[in-house]
Amino acid sequence: MGVVNRIGAAAAACAVLLLAVACHAGQTSEYRRQLGQAMDMPIDADVFRPPPGRNAPQQVHITQGDHDGTAMIISWVTTIEPGSSTVLYGASEDSLNCSAKGKHTQYTFYNYTSGYIHHSTIKKLEFDTKYYYAVGTGETRRKFWFRTPPKSGPDVPYTFGPLGDLGQSFDSNVALAHYETNTKAQAVLFVGDLTYADNYPYHDNTRWDTWARFVERNLAYQPWIWTAGNHEIDFAPELGETKPLQPFSQRYPTPYIGFWQYSTFLVFHLKSLCLCHCFGIILPHNGNILLQYKVGLEAEFFPYKWLEAEFPKVNRSETPWLIVLMHAPWYNSYNYHYMEGESMRVMYEPWFVKYKVDLVFAGHVHAYERTHRISNVAYLPGRPLGQVYSTRNRES
Ligand SMILES: *[C@@H]1O[C@H](CO)[C@@H](O)[C@H](O)[C@H]1NC(C)=O
Ligand SMILES: *[C@@H]1O[C@H](CO)[C@@H](O)[C@H](O)[C@H]1NC(C)=O
Ligand SMILES: *[C@@H]1O[C@H](CO)[C@@H](O)[C@H](O)[C@H]1NC(C)=O
Repeated sequence: MGVVNRIGAAAAACAVLLLAVACHAGQTSEYRRQLGQAMDMPIDADVFRPPPGRNAPQQVHITQGDHDGTAMIISWVTTIEPGSSTVLYGASEDSLNCSAKGKHTQYTFYNYTSGYIHHSTIKKLEFDTKYYYAVGTGETRRKFWFRTPPKSGPDVPYTFGPLGDLGQSFDSNVALAHYETNTKAQAVLFVGDLTYADNYPYHDNTRWDTWARFVERNLAYQPWIWTAGNHEIDFAPELGETKPLQPFSQRYPTPYIGFWQYSTFLVFHLKSLCLCHCFGIILPHNGNILLQYKVGLEAEFFPYKWLEAEFPKVNRSETPWLIVLMHAPWYNSYNYHYMEGESMRVMYEPWFVKYKVDLVFAGHVHAYERTHRISNVAYLPGRPLGQVYSTRNRES
């Protein structure tokens, strides 16, 4: 059902600032999502069209490749043969005089076999610099560009937009287009649930391909920072797929430890316990935001140990604002997914208070809500301590 909330998708940093500073409840947008089930775009929709040319690289996407913002992971897919896994790049469009070698991989899911999925990490980039890059070879070489984030500092601006539960419906296209109208946005904080391919028979993984072609128009140019949701689990023993999170982890690697190493029993907890990235964010006085990529996904045993070790590492002199992304919200007044995050909230919320998390973005519930600062309460508004929460998006 529904649509990404307009406010959520595109007001980007403005919304964040409002949340952080004003956070008054009440109507925030004229936008009303439509009632009823969202309809997926047909497989032959123009936004899913592969680029022309034999074995042309498709599904190009980037994500930040290190803590500081001086690396970028470039990923793409070729379908006929592997081709080259090398990215050419440079600060001038006409002289891509640097290169980074990568690797390709392939996976199967039931009777689906993926294309050749390439990942290449470009390192030692300058801050706040526009780079051009190219993937593919010969006539089907394709060129894109991105801008690295500025070096972190208390007064450095950075603009991003939270997005989640995007899917590939007609409404998804409207939502992405709306995000794109904010020309200042430099990165997406994605709160989980990418493609909804698992809603298809046999989790039809061709819908991972269509989704990646659909979002390439943005994702090839700005890093999306990933958090996984329940639609990334893809645990399907009835299809012989017992290793969770395979399509997601093969296609969207993050620079730090991956959660897919966990045993399958944990996966049943994921829906409510969620997966989270943790970010160091600097919010300077002028209201824009610098994101300093802080960590990847949970480590040794479930998120618990990871988060326990991670929070103290955030240096709040360097990172005065701390934002956490998660999939299932901890506070939600909507009837759908009501209190699904409760066990996780009980477990982790004391740390959020202790380490003074400023802002939490969540998805999962496809209705926009935000709260006053709130913590450790049975959904009572107005407590002085705690975080601001935001949920957004489509229906699951
Ligand atoms: C690439 O070209 C730029 C000038 O456009 C130059 O500053 C840089 O040193 C060159 N890099 C390499 C690796 O040759
Ligand atoms: C996979 O199996 C399903 C069910 O048997 C079938 O409909 C589909 O065409 C198959 N797909 C491929 C790629 O073989
Ligand atoms: C935190 O960052 C500040 C400013 O860069 C630095 O002076 C300080 O040593 C850091 N603290 C720790 C514990 O690393």
